[in-house]
Amino acid sequence: MNPLNHVAIIMDGNGRWGLKNKNSRNAGHKAGLITVEKIIKETIKNKIGYLTLFAFSTENWKRPKKEINYLFNLLENFLVNKIEDLHKQNIRLKILGLKKFSRKLNKLLNNSEKKTSKNTRLQINLALNYGSKSELISAFKKIQTTKTKINEKNLNRYLQTKNIPDPDILIRTGNTKRLSNFLLWQLAYSEIFFEKKLWPAFNEKDYNRIIKEYKKIKRNFGKI
Ligand code: FPP
Repeated sequence: MNPLNHVAIIMDGNGRWGLKNKNSRNAGHKAGLITVEKIIKETIKNKIGYLTLFAFSTENWKRPKKEINYLFNLLENFLVNKIEDLHKQNIRLKILGLKKFSRKLNKLLNNSEKKTSKNTRLQINLALNYGSKSELISAFKKIQTTKTKINEKNLNRYLQTKNIPDPDILIRTGNTKRLSNFLLWQLAYSEIFFEKKLWPAFNEKDYNRIIKEYKKIKRNFGKI
């Protein structure tokens, strides 16, 4: 059976779920957050060390301002209300992406990372204002300025995922089969599961089915 140390998720389909069920895209984001909480609990139950969630891409700035504000308010409230609880559960929060938000949110994110930085049970990487291509470009630039060799080891050292093992599993909900500029380097050997369900409808049973399926896969990493 394959060991499972890191699950990454593209949480797609909030908007469609919200429009269909509540006539509002934002209601879909609110419901999506409930799924996030369910999946965190289930990740702990499964003793998985890392969970990476794609919450906002560099391309998501193209959305209407009202939706962007709603999403960041949701995140702010989540951090204010839940960070103590996450900390008590020995969960570490790390942000992937460029922290270029309001002063208040930047501070909240930095404080949350700092407060939980020594926690060891589960590391949640929240990808916010994240884009894989720009992550790779800045890593290459850093290699160039340090005049070190361009190789895998050095590249890994300058990626934001430094010290984080590559994802074993990538799940994308929402019936869309693409990577959307998410962890392009780190997903090189991940097992990918595209799910038809929209993120707010995704549940513990779906998650455990994927984990079970993953454990049975013969992972070759290029060998036979
Ligand atoms: C993609 O669905 C989802 C997002 C861009 C936001 C993800 C946010 C959450 C799950 C809730 C907030 C999370 C935290 C941690 C505070 P979409 O809107 O692109 O859906 P669509 O494809 O149906 O339009």
